[in-house]
Amino acid sequence: MNPVELIHLAKQAMQRAYTPYSGYKVGAALVTKQGDVYLGCNIENAAFGPSNCAERTAFFTAICAGEREFEAIAVVGGKDGVVTDIFPPCGVCRQVMQEFCGPDFMIYMGRGDDSFEAVRLDALLPYGFSAKEYMNET
Ligand code: THU
Repeated sequence: MNPVELIHLAKQAMQRAYTPYSGYKVGAALVTKQGDVYLGCNIENAAFGPSNCAERTAFFTAICAGEREFEAIAVVGGKDGVVTDIFPPCGVCRQVMQEFCGPDFMIYMGRGDDSFEAVRLDALLPYGFSAKEYMNET
């Protein structure tokens, strides 16, 4: 699964976004180390707080399916589903990635054509907090 193929799958997931409030549609495609892909879209709520981002939808679907080892995620998004530039993951989604992924986990952010930005998780979330910090307790 190359980055462009993964971005195309993220665009398909974006079509399923439920966004009556912001109108911003976001799609994600998460690939495991074994090559299986899990899709996610953002799902909004009238109370705003319960809304879920596309990336977390993909992660939580995969985790619930028993997956634990992840290679990369592709993300696309834009107003009314029109992708004109990269749509970087929010801080909460970065922290969820930190929970389940290593520093070399890749994030591909598509621009709508076949161009994209590729960054490692340790660049997207420097000094990320994770379970290993608990090991340093005295
Ligand atoms: N959103 C995502 O789906 N992923 C992100 O990482 C950033 C924000 C969604 C949440 C909300 O439905 C819409 O984009 C506008 O913030």
